[in-house]
Amino acid sequence: MKKRLLVATGGGDCPGLNAVIRAIVKRAYQKQGWEVLGSIDAFNGLLSDPIQLVDLNLETVAGIHVKGGTIIGTTNRGGPFHWPVKTPQGKWVTKNRSKEMLQILKDLGISAVINIGGDGSQRISQRLFQMGCPIIGVPKTIDNDLSETDFTFGFQTAVDAATDAVDKLVSTAASHHRLLILEVMGRYAGWIALHAAIAGGAEVCLIPEIPYDIHKVKAAIDRRLDSGKKFAIAVVAEGAKAKGGEMTYVESETPGTMKIKLGGAALKLSRELKDVGVEMEIRETILGHLQRGGRPNAFDRVLATMMGVKAFDMVLNKEWGHMVAYRHPDMVAVPLKDAVRKYNYIDLRSDLVKTARGVGICLGD
Ligand code: F6P
Repeated sequence: MKKRLLVATGGGDCPGLNAVIRAIVKRAYQKQGWEVLGSIDAFNGLLSDPIQLVDLNLETVAGIHVKGGTIIGTTNRGGPFHWPVKTPQGKWVTKNRSKEMLQILKDLGISAVINIGGDGSQRISQRLFQMGCPIIGVPKTIDNDLSETDFTFGFQTAVDAATDAVDKLVSTAASHHRLLILEVMGRYAGWIALHAAIAGGAEVCLIPEIPYDIHKVKAAIDRRLDSGKKFAIAVVAEGAKAKGGEMTYVESETPGTMKIKLGGAALKLSRELKDVGVEMEIRETILGHLQRGGRPNAFDRVLATMMGVKAFDMVLNKEWGHMVAYRHPDMVAVPLKDAVRKYNYIDLRSDLVKTARGVGICLGD
C-alpha cells in the first residue's frame, strides 16, 4: 500500500507556493510508493464537512511552478487551534479542533504532513508536532521576516514588483516635479522597502526598524531640491512609524482572525510632511497585493523548488518538527521551535543599511 503525504499552504499567499508543491510531488513520485494529497485552504480542508482534499500527482502539478498563488488555496482564517464558531447568540468564538484533526489524519492513513507557510503557520506546525504529528515546515512569505533562513521565496518577486513601481514613479514624478510616496508591504520588517529603495534609487526610505524623525525627512527633501533636482521618491514600509508614534493599522473584524491590518503609512507621512512645511506637490501610491500576486521570478522558482525537494527528503528521513531553511548555498533542516522563536528584522549594523546610507538614502534618522 502507498504511503500518504498531506500538503497544505497556509497564511497569505506568495509567489513560489506552486513551485514548492510541484517539487514535493515530483520528488515523491521519483521515490515511488507515495500518494500526495493537498488540503484545500490550509488545514481547513481537513476540518471541513465534507473534507476537502485533492490528489496531487504529476498531471495536476505539471507546469504550475510558473503560476502565482497556490492551486490548493490558502487562508489566514481558522485553522486547527482557532476554528471560528458562531454561538446561538450570534457571537463568534474560536474552538480548538487540533485533536480532532490529528484523528482525521490517522483515519485517512496520512503518515506525513508538509505545512508551507509563514510564522503563524509554522507556529501551528510546532504545536501539532508537540502533539505527535509527523510534520515538516516550509517557510514562505513576501515579508522575508522568518528567522533561521537566509531568504523566503516570494520576497524577491515582491521586491521586483516594488522596484518596478519605483521606476515608474520616477518618470511621472520627474515630469510633474512632485514628491511621490510609495507604500509597500512587509509587515513589521522593512526588507521589501529597503531593497526597492536601493534598487530603484529612492531618496527616502522609511522602515519599521528605524522610527523616523519627520524633520530629518524634510531636510533630505530640501537638500534634494537645493541640489537642483525637482522631484523625489520616498519608499515607506507599511509598518513604518514616527519616533514616539504608532504604526498605522486597523483591527480585522473577520471571525477567527485577530490580525492587525497595517495600512495608511504613506498618507500619514504625506500629511506629516505638509505639516512641517514641505511645499512641493505630494502624491501617494499604495502597491498592496500587486506585490503578492503573479508569477514568481526565476530566483523564487529555484528557491521554492529547492525547498520542496528538501522537504520531501526530510519526510523520508523522518525529520519531524523541523523546517526547511536556506543557508546559502545549502538547504538545511532547523528545529521549528527555533524558527518560530523570533522574527528576522533588518540589522541596523548590516551592510544593507550601510549601503543605503552610503548612496545617500535618508532613513529618517
Ligand atoms: O505577510 C504578508 C502580507 O502581505 C504582509 O506584507 C501584509 O501586511 C499582509 O500580508 C496583508 O494581509 P492580507 O492579505 O490578509 O490583508
